[in-house]
Formats: sequence, structure tokens, C-alpha cells
Amino acid sequence: MFPRGRKILLGVAGGISAYKSCDLLRRLQDEGFIVDVVPTAASLNFVGKATWEALSGRKVITDFWSDVESVPHISMAKENDLIVIAPTTADLLGKLASGRADDLLTNIVLASTAPKILVPAMHPEMWLNSATVENVKILQQRGFFVIQPGEGRMTGSDIGVGRYPDSVNIITEINKVILQSADLVGKRILITAGGTREPIDPIRFIGNRSSGKQGFALAAAAASRGAQVHLVTANTDLPLIEGITTTHVETAAQMSAVLEIEFPHSDALIMSAAVADAKVSNYSDIKIKKESLDRVELQKNPDILKSLASGKKPGQVIIGFAAETSADFESLEKSGHAKLASKSLDIIYVNNVSDGAIFGSNHTQGLIIDSQLNVIKVPEISKDTLSDILLDQLASKLG
Ligand code: CTP
Repeated sequence: MFPRGRKILLGVAGGISAYKSCDLLRRLQDEGFIVDVVPTAASLNFVGKATWEALSGRKVITDFWSDVESVPHISMAKENDLIVIAPTTADLLGKLASGRADDLLTNIVLASTAPKILVPAMHPEMWLNSATVENVKILQQRGFFVIQPGEGRMTGSDIGVGRYPDSVNIITEINKVILQSADLVGKRILITAGGTREPIDPIRFIGNRSSGKQGFALAAAAASRGAQVHLVTANTDLPLIEGITTTHVETAAQMSAVLEIEFPHSDALIMSAAVADAKVSNYSDIKIKKESLDRVELQKNPDILKSLASGKKPGQVIIGFAAETSADFESLEKSGHAKLASKSLDIIYVNNVSDGAIFGSNHTQGLIIDSQLNVIKVPEISKDTLSDILLDQLASKLG
């Protein structure tokens, strides 16, 4: 029912109904979600770390000071497409409303741009307290989705509003939120990443400095918006993205062969890989001694993007990239226009790579030009943010 590969972070706060989130976790997995659980310290009084690890099948970090070297609050904030906190206690509502971040879960919430769903559960007096009512209002104004608690028997003898809702109802709400942010559902998007390498001999190659970070960021962002993504990656050293079909290639010829098969079935191609412009025509299967290196002959690689774009079917959208070393806006724009036209692209992102900037970085800057010749100047932003901007444009072109 949901696009597979979507990642949910399930925060669990310290309420007695924490045990009900074990069922929620199971049902989310049945729906095809990958779920990372982040329990607060207080919640571990109700359900222990071992239970969450066994049920989720994933490592569970319970405090901010574990695994510090991997900066988990930032990586988990980025990796997850949705945050669901069930149960959310009155205390956690207060903390979130005041923007506090004193444990792993609250740090992740503050660092994440993903949609956030809160499932408050508490005694009726606490739920109806004006402080709680005010906190809920503040959070809703900031874009949090707050699921209304159910009515019925509470712990002890109380009856009233404040119960943890049935898992099925929570999943229905999650479904609604996901559909709102999933504007690429049903779209097949082919994305290339990294840089091709053209072998000279068994030891050496012609290559480039592309890290693949932009292509991977695009792939993760497209999948989180519901697209079916096929990532074709050349010589990257980045962790695989769960739920995304990934094909590894080395050379331009291998990349071209995969794209020729995949492009006709795709709605869009995003060509962020840096393809080596030349290959060696006299590859040697033994190491070439340095005295003989001047005998290496080069020949131009075919332009993969140009050739795919020439066979584009109506409705297919192609985004190309360009790496330019000119820092001045006019020349970037000029070469962007030229590449957009010569390669028949719908959109081009012109990277300003002067001084080796951008390669391997988490940030980028340049400009976006589309086939209507609209130009957007992109100041230094993260590659994740650029991915969202390009996918917004892609979504509108795909209709
Ligand atoms: N590209 C390609 N095949 C090639 C070279 C480039 O498909 N043999 C694609 C790149 O993936 C990128 C776009 O074309 O999306 C522009 O690449 P870029 O290297 O900026 O431009 P080139 O066309 O190679 O021109 P030049 O290197 O002369 O600037």
C-alpha cells in the first residue's frame, strides 16, 4: 500500500502505553516501513531496549552520548522520512513546544525537516490542562500533526479522553500525512551518481572527483516522496540507501548500457553522475611502464545524456548537471543554456566547481535553468535542499 523503503522514526516517550507501540511497530513493518525506534530514558521503565531491538531488527540508541562519532541525531533526522512519537507524554509536548533538546529524541525532532506526527496519551486531567492544550496548539501551528487521543478506560479507575488510539487508526493518519508529502508516487525515476572511471591498465584509470553525494541525496529525497528509484552509481563510497534499487558500474560504457535498458521504462532521468569525457583506446592488460605512458591514446566517450535525450518519449523529463569552473554568474548561465539546448534537457543544474569546491562536500552552489529559460540562482545550500528544489521542479513538469 505504501511505497516501500520509506523510513519511519518511532519515538517512544515515558507513558504506560509505551507497550502499545510494540504493536504499532509490528504493523508499520507489515506495511513495508523500515522503523528505527528511539525510546526516551523514562520510557525504558515501561519497555526495555532489548524489546525494541528484537522487534525492529535494528540497533537502538537510547541516549545522546552513545555513538557520538556518528552524530546520530543528525543522521537519524536526515535518514527518516517521517517521525511518529507514540506515546507522546505531557512532558514531551511541553519540551517540544518550547524547542528544548536535552536527549536524543528531542534533538532529532529539532534537527529534522520530515513531517512529524504526535500521538499524545495521558490521563484526561493532564490532556485537558490548559498548559497541555496550549502546547498542542503551538505545535500544530508549527506543522506538527497531532492525533487526538481516544476516550475510554485509563490506567487505574479513571475514564475519559487521553487513551492511546488503536494502531490501525494511527496508521490511517500516517497514511494521510504521507500522501500529502508523496507527490512522486507511481513515478519511476532513474538517477545516476558518482564518477565513471576509464581504465588505462590494471592499475590506473582516468576519473574525476565526484563523490556521488548529490546523486545519493536526490535518490533518498525522491524515494521519500514516493518515487520508485533506480540509482546507477559509479565508484562511490557511500552507504546504500535501503529500499532503493542500486546498480554499481565502473565505466561510462557500463553506465550507458544500464541506462539504455532502464530509461525507456522511466518517467524521469536525473543525470548527476560525472561521466569521464575520454577513455583509453589502447587499454593494456599489463601494467604500462612509466616510460611508455605517453603511448596511451585517448578517445572521446559518447555523450550518454545527449543520446538518451534524443530518444526521449513525450512525458519523460530529463535533468542534467553541468560542472563549470567559472565563478561569474554570466558565464555559468551561458554555458548552462548551451548545454541545456545541445542536450535537449528539461532542466539543468550548473554546479560552480571552481577551486575544487563542491566535490565531496555536503553543500553546493550554482544555478538552475529550465527549458522555458527560467533561471534560479542557488546560493550555498545543502545537497539535500537542492534535491528537494530540483524534485519540486521535476514534480511540476511530470504533472
Ligand atoms: N554527460 C554524459 N556523457 C558524457 C559527458 C557528460 O552523459 N560523456 C552528462 C553529465 O552526466 C552531465 C551533463 O552531461 O549531466 C554535463 O556534463 P559536463 O561534464 O558538465 O559537460 P560535458 O558535456 O561533458 O562538456 P564539457 O566537459 O566540455 O564542459
